[in-house]
Amino acid sequence: MFTVRSLCSMCGSTDLQEVISLGSMPLSNSFLASPNQAEEKYPLTLVFCPECSLVQLKEVIPPDVLFRDYIYFSSQSQTMLDHSRDLAAELIKDLNLGKESLVIEPASNDGYMLQYFMQADVPVLGIEPASNIASIANDRGIPTLNAFFGEGIGSGLQEKADVLLALNVLGHVDDLNGFVRGIKGALKPSGIAVIEVPYVRDMVEDLAWDTIYHEHLSYFSLRALTNLFKWNGMQIIKARRVDIHCGSLRLYVGNASPKYPRDRFTESLLSMEGKLGMDRPSYYQLFGIETQKSIEALKSYLLDLRDRRIVRIIGYGAAAKGVILLNAAKIGWDILDYVVDSTPSKIGKYLPGVHLRVLPPEEIGNPDYILLLARNFKEEITAKHPGKKWIVPLPKVELIIGGQE
Ligand code: TMP
Repeated sequence: MFTVRSLCSMCGSTDLQEVISLGSMPLSNSFLASPNQAEEKYPLTLVFCPECSLVQLKEVIPPDVLFRDYIYFSSQSQTMLDHSRDLAAELIKDLNLGKESLVIEPASNDGYMLQYFMQADVPVLGIEPASNIASIANDRGIPTLNAFFGEGIGSGLQEKADVLLALNVLGHVDDLNGFVRGIKGALKPSGIAVIEVPYVRDMVEDLAWDTIYHEHLSYFSLRALTNLFKWNGMQIIKARRVDIHCGSLRLYVGNASPKYPRDRFTESLLSMEGKLGMDRPSYYQLFGIETQKSIEALKSYLLDLRDRRIVRIIGYGAAAKGVILLNAAKIGWDILDYVVDSTPSKIGKYLPGVHLRVLPPEEIGNPDYILLLARNFKEEITAKHPGKKWIVPLPKVELIIGGQE
């Protein structure tokens, strides 16, 4: 039920070089109703294309399997809400958006982002593939189509959008060129697309190997993105690094013509990528070697902690990245008692692969240590439980006390 890529998803090159294989993994958002439920596992291999610099997964699970009935709700986190409110305020002001404008957002989730435009009377349209989440958005009064965005839907929107937002979605898309043509088709000729993707440089520098999972098909450098938009008749006007999802790139993208003046910060980011060797396999292969070491170091830290005396350790945040972390390092019920998470649809279920029970945060109890599985919300989560001892697993294992650094 998956395909193995033999060609680069962006440029079609056959020269895909292996970065790391994380072995056989469950789908990280496929929670189980009982610990004995059977589940599928799939290989998880990261490869690099030296031709266009795209880092990508070798194994592709059909999007219908991954996203039709989804349990990820973006509005679970105050950090995400703050980030979205600030971005909406910036765009409304800088692009002078009002009643006559239209903001379109593929993968709009439960409307956590579009709500801020609606509050300012800016018309919106969400496009969300998960039917359960699209209906929640519609119930909240945020007009949302239940569909996968792509070239067909995009061109059907007939150049109507002033702004198209694609936040943390491009990495999930198999047909990248089609998706970008869809963006171009949906935007007015003078429209702006605002794109956010996790930045592969942050993944490498912070050893964030837990962000590799089946839903994340691509891991972008600015160089790869520059190629992607250029090949599809668009241009990156400016790029910025933003501190969300463990480090992301935000791009402001317009039509290929007229040419916008070059942004100096964007140029310097690109040239830094060249200096770091991000266009060469060795940069990523070194990350693969460090990842193997990190997996072993984490496992032995936890085993050591548990073997020294009787301690109770639990996990916090049944995040997709947490599922990968636990499965790659084989951290199961022999080390953790349970995992807590605030998402109603995860509570009472069992984590894919390791089958640990998910309890609500109110049932956190009195563990000796808490393994932080949703690292991207470190400040928000640890502040809620002052005084507790947290094990932050990456980039290197670190012990912190809640509410303090
Ligand atoms: P994500 O990294 O994929 O966004 O998942 C984060 C998970 O952490 C999600 O399942 C919700 C959970 N979470 C909590 O349980 N408590 C919190 O305070 C926050 C911010 C997130």
